[in-house]
Order: sequence, then structure tokens, then C-alpha cells
Amino acid sequence: MIDFLLNGYPRRCEASPDTSVLELLRETLGLTGTKEGCASGDCGACTVAIGEAGPDGQMRYHSANACIVPAHQLQGRALVTVEGLAQGETLHPAQAAMVDCHASQCGFCTPGIVMSLFTLHEEQHQHQSAPPAPLTAERLEAALGGNLCRCTGYRPIRDAALSMDDQRPSPPYQRPEWLDLAVDATAPKQDPESDTAFVQPESLSELIEERRRHPEAPIVAGGTDLWLEVTQRLTHFERLVDVTRVTELNAIEETTLDDGREGWWIGGAVTYARLAPLLAEHYPAFAHLLHRLGSAQVRNRGTLGGNIANASPIGDTPPVLLALGSRLWLAGPGREGTRVAERELALEDFFLDYKQTALNQDKGEVIRAIFLPKPASERHLRVWKLSKRREDDISAVLGAFGWRLEEGVIREVRLAFGGMAATPKRAAAAEAALEGQPPTVASFQAARTALKQDFQPLSDVRGSAHYRELSAANLLERLRLAIAQSETSSSPEVMLHAYAH
Ligand code: FES
Ligand code: FES
Repeated sequence: MIDFLLNGYPRRCEASPDTSVLELLRETLGLTGTKEGCASGDCGACTVAIGEAGPDGQMRYHSANACIVPAHQLQGRALVTVEGLAQGETLHPAQAAMVDCHASQCGFCTPGIVMSLFTLHEEQHQHQSAPPAPLTAERLEAALGGNLCRCTGYRPIRDAALSMDDQRPSPPYQRPEWLDLAVDATAPKQDPESDTAFVQPESLSELIEERRRHPEAPIVAGGTDLWLEVTQRLTHFERLVDVTRVTELNAIEETTLDDGREGWWIGGAVTYARLAPLLAEHYPAFAHLLHRLGSAQVRNRGTLGGNIANASPIGDTPPVLLALGSRLWLAGPGREGTRVAERELALEDFFLDYKQTALNQDKGEVIRAIFLPKPASERHLRVWKLSKRREDDISAVLGAFGWRLEEGVIREVRLAFGGMAATPKRAAAAEAALEGQPPTVASFQAARTALKQDFQPLSDVRGSAHYRELSAANLLERLRLAIAQSETSSSPEVMLHAYAH
């Protein structure tokens, strides 16, 4: 049973564990305004807004792809769909602006675009006492990058976004009368013995107990990858374990490791959107990557823990974390008498082979947290992703490079790549060629030659083996140019950002 607010009114629905929000809307509730395009989180046609009350009681909405959000995650939350925006004959500013700017032709993408504009509008007007933040090009791109339109063209859609504030002033979407209709946010308890369930533990000990009983049940957080099993492979999941409500997995805590390194433990269920401010302050190159990793809808849902556990050779964050020297905190059911067994290991020891990791899945182990070190002084990080499309695309090759310069030579260099092997992996031979060397043409030439020992990439739809070898070597050359430039000039980059950034 799922209890939630739908467009302001309480609803109670039954759904199987693997029902998506989109399926619930279209098939169960007959609300067909939300469209299905790709069914894989790529096109944005199914965009809806999910609201949760913040500490001040004010509802905060985030955009999400309904096709890959588990319906049970709506428990206790507010769902807003395109049917819920107009009040009688009065359109919401997002709708009115789309009409006025002629921003729709076939209309298939339009409900999703309207919902992305709705969340943008609500964010802009969240603080009623302050004027809305200026709508910069970056903010617009971030809000609309996950919505594809194949007939209108983006100029009128952009015009609509920019003219929302010219519409009739609109109060925040949360209306006072709704507060009396609030639903219980607590996840319903499931029968531990039942084979069919969407289990929503709220603490680590509850999660571990569930893992002890059902270590085989798949774990879901944002669903941005797992749910493609449902929509693309038509897999049927009888039992799923949702980790998004586990308090410990949602924490970001400062820490000092035994080796003296300071940093943060990032809970395995922390979303990219929540992580973004920390990265923007300490690792701008990593924060920038989040905008290339997925749309706002994906960043609002996807998690660092999921990206690591998925162990894809083309996952975007593992190479960066390898370059930073991250570690993992794993937790699972302990032996008799010990409720939770925990251990730590270096991230590079986690990836064993294609989609194979050191997680002891038979025993129900999970990623509790990921260690992100604080930036050490004089240490640098560069991250470059190569993909066919700038927004919302999968890497062909991703290079992440960490190093420091000491008296003119490179020290503690870590060169990590995605898309070059069966796992995300450091380039040990290329690192050895650079360690202790000055950043000269000759030393980088030696590193590029050594790279051939490190990787024998495959050809696939994203790039041929030759393309990958050549572009990985070119990223090393780019690194040399970036180091040379940072030593001689204050301008940040020498290359076109449109192609690799
Ligand atoms: Fe394309 Fe959901 S249908 S993102
Ligand atoms: Fe047809 Fe956007 S109006 S796809």
C-alpha cells in the first residue's frame, strides 16, 4: 500500500514492488498526461515533481523521471503531475509561458518540459521574502538538459522559461489547505517472511536484518540504473530493498582515517544533487562532472553508492574517486552475536572484473559510505569526459587525474580511466612513467607510450578500440598542456569545452 499526496489530495494505491511511478499514473490512476518516451530516464517526457517537506515545513520539489522511479518511494511524499498545475481555468506560469511563447508543436515532450519548468519556478520562488535568483544560462541548462524536444526547437522553450516571471504572480505551489491533508511519511512495515515486498528500512540495523534474511533481494536507491532492468529487459522483481530512507546511508560526516587523512564519509544513498554543494566548494572539477553525468532528473535521484556498486566500466564517478584515493565502508550481517559486520577497503580493491566487485553479496553486504578526502594543499584534480552528446550521455572515455608538483617534478600522480578496461582502473605504467619527472613533453610522451601496457580497450557502439587508445593518450597530452598553462598563465583552459569537459 502506498499513501501519498497526488496533486494536493491524499491517495492510497496498491502496487507490485516493481511498479514505476509512470505505470502507476497511466495504468492504475488513468492519468495519461505524463508521457512515456524512452522508458529509460533519457528523454524527460515522463518528468514529474516529487515534494518533501523541508525542516521549515515548506514543500521542496525535485524533478524526476517517472519511468524509473519506484512507485513505493512515493510513500508519504507529494507527487505533482501536469494535470495538477492549473487551478480551474488559470494556468500555472510554466504552462502560460509555454503557450505564450509557442513552445509546443506535437506536444509529446511538452508535459515533461512543463514539469521541469514548474520545479524551476518553485525553486526560484521558494523564499517568498527574497526576490527570485537570476535565471542564468547555466541554471536554465541545468533545469532543462534532461528534456528532449524533436520538433519545436529549444529557442521558444528557453523563451518560455525566461518569461515565467512575466506571468501572473503565483504563490508557491504548496497551498495552506494541503497541510491538513498531510499523509504519514513513515514507510509501512513489510512481512519479513513474504516473498513479495518493497522493503523500506529506516536504520542501518533494520537494513542489515533485512539483508540477513534476504541477501539475494536487489537493492534500489535512485533506480536510475536498476530500473532499466524492469523497463528494458522486462525483469520482474518480487522483493526490493529501498535504501533511500536509511538514516546512516544518508549522512555526510567529517572524519579522520587511521592513516591521518581528513575527509568526509558520504553515505551510500546520498544523491548527486545533495553532494553537489560539497563538491562545488572543494572539488570544482568533480562538481562540473555531475552536470555531464546525467540530467537534473537523474542527479536528483542517482547516488554515489549506486554508481560504485553498479561497477560499470563506464560509470562516471569511480575514476574520479580512484584519482582521489577514496575508500569504502562496507556493512553486512555479522556472525551470530554480532549484528553488523563492517570493514573498510581501498576503492581500487573493490573492482575485480567486469561488473564483479569485492562486495560479499551472498552475505548481503552493502556500501555504507564512501570516503572523500579533503583536498590536500598543492594537490590538483582534473576530470575530462568524452561522450557523443554533451548532456545526459554515457562516457566513451573518462580520464581523472590527481597530482601535485614539488620542486618542479610530479609527485603522487594518480591517473584513472573509465571506458578503457573491464573495470574503472588506474594506469599504473603511465603513472610510473610520470612519477618524479618534470611535466615535460618527453615525460608525457613516455607516459603515453606506457599507457599501451595499461589498457587494451574494446570496440563498442560508443567508440572503437583505436579511438579509445588515441583519446586516452590525448587526454594525457591535455593534462600536460593544462599543467604548463597553469604554471605560466592565469587563464583556466586552452581547449574547447564543448567537446571534452
Ligand atoms: Fe523518457 Fe522517462 S520516458 S525519461
Ligand atoms: Fe514535439 Fe517537443 S513538441 S517533441
